[in-house]
Amino acid sequence: MKTVEERLARRALGMKGSEIRRLFKMSMKPGVISFAGGLPDPQSFPSEEAAEILPSLLRQNGKILLQYGSARGDTTLIQVIQNRMRQKDIETEPEEILITAGAQQVMDLCAKILVNPEDTILLESPSFIGALGVFRNYQARLVGVSMDESGIRLESLVDVLKTLREEENLPKFLYTIPNFHNPTGALMSQGKRRRLLEIADEFDLLILEDDAYGDLWFDGDGQEVLPIKSLDKQQRVIYTGSFSKIISPGIRLGWAAGPRELIEKFELARQVADVCPSPLIQALVVRLAEDGYLDHHIPQLREIYRLRRDAMLAALAKYMPEGVFWTTPRGGFYIWVTLPEQLDASELFPKAVEKNVAYVIGQPFYPDESIKNTLRLSFSHEPEEMIEEGIRRLGEAMREALVKD
Ligand SMILES: Cc1ncc(COP(=O)(O)O)c(C=O)c1O
Repeated sequence: MKTVEERLARRALGMKGSEIRRLFKMSMKPGVISFAGGLPDPQSFPSEEAAEILPSLLRQNGKILLQYGSARGDTTLIQVIQNRMRQKDIETEPEEILITAGAQQVMDLCAKILVNPEDTILLESPSFIGALGVFRNYQARLVGVSMDESGIRLESLVDVLKTLREEENLPKFLYTIPNFHNPTGALMSQGKRRRLLEIADEFDLLILEDDAYGDLWFDGDGQEVLPIKSLDKQQRVIYTGSFSKIISPGIRLGWAAGPRELIEKFELARQVADVCPSPLIQALVVRLAEDGYLDHHIPQLREIYRLRRDAMLAALAKYMPEGVFWTTPRGGFYIWVTLPEQLDASELFPKAVEKNVAYVIGQPFYPDESIKNTLRLSFSHEPEEMIEEGIRRLGEAMREALVKD
């Protein structure tokens, strides 16, 4: 009899559990202060509100809400999303929107609909691991473009595009996270967004803009940068948003907004994948939006996460040894740390866990996994007092590792 391995499709052979998951397990012991997962603060979830709304929805409309729904998504929720995007200067028609199982499904649909094996996808280096994973599952060739504090480096992007054009292998799309990037926390400047679209015109490039963290800005008024999609005159941008970080990830709701022909294809693909988003959960989100909960809740989230970011930045300044550098995010969940060259973040990891603190190593975030001395800290999940203590422990682990070196 054949082994399971021998029965696998070629595309499944490359699928493997990430190093992160293995390390994550190591850190799942009592007493560990974890800066590892990109988890929202569970205290902020609307469990009370949902406990009130769901029974009333079921009583009023249960027979419909427990039935299959539209593969495109609920029309009222689509309107809610249109209105929310309009506040960011994105004008869309309902036909240009698909409700999805989170932003993650949008990445899957983009790869499924646009990418053949060996096709190239460009993305920031480092980039979101969930995106790297899904693109690899479609056997794409991933080409990373380096970043600085204001996002992707446009000179490097142009160089890469010129080389790919010479090879007659222009990318299917560029995947970018312009707002409070995962993992670096970087915010792409408005000037870069404009210039990026000019470059996209020059190379006829599609852009997948992932805005999972866009509402979670801490400084200013949130208007100083607008989504790339808001500047898009040529229908080059597929925009994805998510309710995961502003309501809860467990409701699994996000959306894609893009050219209608593409959205139609996405809908067909999703219909045979997961059929439709849950009508009941969509109705819950509509009610939360209509009751004003979202407008009230998002500023509260900004405050919670801003205080945590500030606590982490203050603790880093106090406890990090010389030669360690970190980013200063203006929103989102993450701080990106660069260690002195001689320190390897995965060798440091067990020592940190011994001291009861955990992070995510940086290496798997790079498409070519070439860099070993970076790590990601998430400030979203632990309260401020734990953040200070966790960073103190991490500083201690680093100092000890540096002395031994
Ligand atoms: C940049 C980025 N995009 C997308 C996602 C996935 O979000 P969702 O829960 O909406 O699928 C995450 C989750 O952490 C993320 O960090």
